[in-house]
This record gives sequence, structure tokens and C-alpha cells, in this order.
Amino acid sequence: MAEDDSPASAPDLGTVLAETRRRLAGAGIGEAALDARLIVEHFSGTRRIDALRDPALGLDALTVGRIEDAVGRRLAGMPVHRILGYREFYGLRLDLSPETLEPRPDTETLVEAMLPDLAGIAARKGACSILDLGTGTGAVALALLSALPQARASGVDLSAGAVKTATENAGRLGLDGRFTAFVSDWYRDVIGVFDAIVSNPPYITTVEMRALPVEVAGHDPHLALDGGPDGLDAYRVIAAGAGGHLDREGLVGVEIGSRQKADVAAVFAAQGLRLRSVARDLGGHDRALVFGF
Ligand SMILES: C[S@@+](CC[C@H](N)C(=O)[O-])C[C@H]1O[C@@H](n2cnc3c(N)ncnc32)[C@H](O)[C@@H]1O
Repeated sequence: MAEDDSPASAPDLGTVLAETRRRLAGAGIGEAALDARLIVEHFSGTRRIDALRDPALGLDALTVGRIEDAVGRRLAGMPVHRILGYREFYGLRLDLSPETLEPRPDTETLVEAMLPDLAGIAARKGACSILDLGTGTGAVALALLSALPQARASGVDLSAGAVKTATENAGRLGLDGRFTAFVSDWYRDVIGVFDAIVSNPPYITTVEMRALPVEVAGHDPHLALDGGPDGLDAYRVIAAGAGGHLDREGLVGVEIGSRQKADVAAVFAAQGLRLRSVARDLGGHDRALVFGF
């Protein structure tokens, strides 16, 4: 693995893992140990337990070459999940594509904020319909469907590539019978009324966009991030259209930036939607707001 001291015989799993970790840490990568493990396990087809039980396991040249290539991309600033091509979200493996945001753990806060009420609706009505605006990989809708067997969801996105990826993710997860994704500019091509509208919309301000770390700006699509001059463009559209697409007993749940609670609540209040609950992420930041009429 090292540039100047590669062993003559096939390197073993333990050595490759240690060397990968050393190189990533040496380059100042914060999560070096985790990233090294994810890269080595993915490209060698091993699991965490294999490195513990059998560190002498030999890796063939092709595998070592693939790990080398992945380490090169990580050192060049590509986020580890972009290299792997997937990310876990709410226990689901979601494939990524260039048109999709990499789903973040913070977004699980929105899923958990919605679940108790949606479970109540599903129990009462025997069904629950969900609209996910800006579905990306399908993360929010698919997580909710995985927890609510009686629910069905529609996911829309302006990006055709994201719609394709979300559809494929649903199929791989066996959720395609209850999930439909299609291209729409927010509500434009959406027909019908739903029990819940959920969205993790773009909410970064134009000024913040200029200061994004390269790992975000260079790899997550601009369309998934840019919330307009004050970061609130998408919330205005989502709030304004809710009246036409939300059951009167239904709920709207949105992810927000950590300092947007008051502004987003005001946008929804202007459309007659009352703030019912606020959920914090693991870092203690306000992250998801739930509204109802
Ligand atoms: C922050 S990402 C969220 C993706 C996914 N829901 C998640 O949580 O990982 C926002 C998504 O909104 C989509 N989007 C942006 N503008 C849109 C529009 N006008 N209509 C529909 N979707 C839009 C983007 O393509 C992107 O997939």
C-alpha cells in the first residue's frame, strides 16, 4: 500500500487496513479510521469481523489496486460515501448518483419527528399517504415506508437523475410496490391530497453557498443545496402549496438549517399552518419542524 515500500508478496488485510488508516490520518482526514475501514471492507468484500479474526487474509492485486484508487480519490477530497456509491440512512442502504444529495444522519431527525403521528394516522385510517418533495435518493420517503407497512409515498424531484436513483433504491429495498417517484417542480405535477407532506429542501443561503467546504460543494448537487438569497425559497413554495395537497388533519414536516426555526415557522404561519413540534438533531440543533392546519 505504501508508495515506496510495497511488500513483494500479496499484502494481507490487516496490513492494508493499517496502511490505509495511516495514509488518511497523515493527510489530516478527521474520520481516518472509519473511512479506512469502509474503503477496505467495501473493495475487499470483507466485514469488520474479518480484520479482527483473520488479519493475515491475503488480498489479490486487483483488490489492492481498487483500494489504492479509492484512497487516491479520498485523499483528493472525495467524500467516502461518494467513493463507495452508497450510504446507510435509517438502516437502509441507499445508492447515490451525481444528481442526488448524500443523505445525512441529521435528516433521520425528520423521519423520527413524523413517525409517531403517521403511525397514528395509519392505525386510524388503515392507510397513510405521504408526499416527499425533493426526494433525492428517496431517503425520507423510503425510511418512513420501511417503518409504516400501511403507508404509500410519492416522491418528486426536479432532477430526472434523482428520480431514477430513488426508483432504483425503492426497488432494491422491496418498497417499490408502495413508492412512486416522478419529475416535478415541487407541486407542479402533483395530483391529490396526502396525509403528510415531508421535505428536506435546499436551505443554504446564497452567501453560505460560497463558503461551503469543497467536500460538499464539489460533490453534492447545487440544486440540492441552494435555498436562494435567504435560504427560504423552497419553504415558501412548500407552505403555499400545502393547502391544496394536505388533508385538513394532515401534517407537514420539514428539515431546517439550525438557525432557521423562527423564519420557517413564520413562512408557514403566513399560510395558516401552526407549528406543532420541533425536533433536535443529535448535536442539539433544531432540525425538523412539524406543522398542521
Ligand atoms: C437537500 S436535498 C434532499 C434530498 C433527500 N430528500 C434527502 O433528504 O437526502 C433537496 C432535493 O430537492 C430537489 N429539488 C431542488 N429544487 C427542486 C424543485 N424545484 N422541485 C423539486 N425538487 C427540487 C433536489 O434535486 C434535491 O434532491
